[in-house]
Amino acid sequence: MSTIRFDHVSLEFAGSLRPAVNDCTLEVESGKLVVILGPSGCGKTTLLKMVNRLHEPTAGKITFDGTDIRQIELTKLRQQIGYVIQQSGLFPHMNVAQNIAVVPKLLGWQSAKIQSRVDELLYLIGLPPNEYRDRFPAQLSGGQQQRVGLARALAADPSVMLMDEPFGAIDAITRTTLQDEILRLQRQLKKTILFVSHDVEEALRLADLILIMDRGQVVQYDTPFHILTRPANAFVHDLVGADDIVRQLSLLRVETAMTSVPPRAASSIALVQAQDYSLNAQPTIAVHDNLRHALSLLLRTGKPSLTVLDNNTPVGVLTLEHIRRSASMGMRT
Ligand SMILES: Nc1ncnc2c1ncn2[C@@H]1O[C@H](COP(=O)(O)OP(=O)(O)O)[C@@H](O)[C@H]1O
Ligand SMILES: [Mg+2]
Repeated sequence: MSTIRFDHVSLEFAGSLRPAVNDCTLEVESGKLVVILGPSGCGKTTLLKMVNRLHEPTAGKITFDGTDIRQIELTKLRQQIGYVIQQSGLFPHMNVAQNIAVVPKLLGWQSAKIQSRVDELLYLIGLPPNEYRDRFPAQLSGGQQQRVGLARALAADPSVMLMDEPFGAIDAITRTTLQDEILRLQRQLKKTILFVSHDVEEALRLADLILIMDRGQVVQYDTPFHILTRPANAFVHDLVGADDIVRQLSLLRVETAMTSVPPRAASSIALVQAQDYSLNAQPTIAVHDNLRHALSLLLRTGKPSLTVLDNNTPVGVLTLEHIRRSASMGMRT
């Protein structure tokens, strides 16, 4: 686990007119998924590459759990960091297993350990080892190549993942599947993830926190909900399309708007629900579902509220008022 802190970090490339990254200060808490969002050229990649020291800041510092990364031996630092880029970067002449094994081999793992790690990772990313282990990158779809790139980055179990528009070249449907996969992996593996995107919907779906950048600077660093409902300025407002309420609702997860219920109250809801089930069951919705679905369910059933479920356990209550509040907060006043 690693908390990453950027402390007044700037990078001015030699001969350029203004800094590519300009005085960025932020903390990425251990285990969180932060999406760096902004238009092309705003400094996202440059910010990311300073974390694994592909670039060095010209001012400021970056720390891992309080230690300046310049004090960590470069190979040690990079072992803690998985790096996934848009073009999967797989070696074309190596098969899937060999590609995934690159870092463990460098680290001198024994071959039996490498083999079992490769299989474990292939299961994890949904490519059955027997079918995929021996294939070459050219024998995989774009989405499968990105999965293998992800497995390779995870091979040595790094605590931090840097992902630079990893799904940028993937078709929309596959991209959604891969995003779901990232969310699942994140829940399971709890890595600290810095994920670069220029796609607002991707950012809203994935992020615990979104870092919005404009011309090298941090414009807003906040939850998806607040980015949509309380954009810091007109730039953010326009970037995320904060005027379109229906779209907003479809991008906001139920959990961002509901009232949470404590576990004890939750179990009594479950009880009431079970008793009522036959005649008058209260409609339910999954915590990760979106507010647009929630709204249509409320309107269709005519019930005052929905019980929010996480893995079949009630965790909250959602009413029309919750949704109305979310929607109206995003409107410019
Ligand atoms: N190696 C480099 N040398 C000089 N300028 C660069 C270099 N890499 C990026 N830049 C410039 O820094 C700015 C930010 O680039 P980048 O971080 O790649 O943006 P993004 O990833 O948000 O599209 C751009 O103006 C780009 O031209
Ligand atoms: Mg970039």
